[in-house]
Amino acid sequence: MNSSSPKSNSTWLIVGASRGIGLELTAQLLKRGDRVFATARNTDGSELLKTVRKTANDRCHILECDVSSESSIQVIYDLLHDFKCVN
Ligand SMILES: NC(=O)c1ccc[n+]([C@@H]2O[C@H](COP(=O)([O-])OP(=O)(O)OC[C@H]3O[C@@H](n4cnc5c(N)ncnc54)[C@H](OP(=O)(O)O)[C@@H]3O)[C@@H](O)[C@H]2O)c1
Repeated sequence: MNSSSPKSNSTWLIVGASRGIGLELTAQLLKRGDRVFATARNTDGSELLKTVRKTANDRCHILECDVSSESSIQVIYDLLHDFKCVN
C-alpha cells in the first residue's frame, strides 16, 4: 500500500490498532480515504492512535475490544452491525 494506491472507500476493522502493525495499517488506510474501526484493549492508553485519528476527520472510530473475551467481541459485532458493516 502506498500513496499511489487507488482510493477504495472501504471500511476496515483493525484489531490491535494501538501500536505496531495494527497502528501503521490504520494510519495507511485512513491516509488513502478508507474508514477504520480501530480496536485495542485500552483505548485511553494509545496517544499514537488518537493522533492518527486526528488526521482522519470522522473516518476513524476507536473502540475497546479484548479478543480473549466473548462478550467484548459481541459488543463489537453488534456495533458494526448497527453501522451496517456486517451482514
Ligand atoms: N512486528 C513484526 O515484525 C511481526 C511480524 C510477523 C508477525 N507479527 C505478529 O503480528 C501481531 C502484531 O505484531 P505487533 O508487532 O504489531 O505487536 P504489538 O506492537 O505488540 O501490538 C499488538 C497489538 O495487539 C493488541 N492486543 C494485544 N492483546 C490483545 C487482545 N487480547 N485483544 C485485542 N487486542 C490485543 C495491542 O493493543 P492493547 O494492548 O491496547 O490491547 C496492540 O495494539 C503479533 O501477533 C505478532 O506476533 C509481527
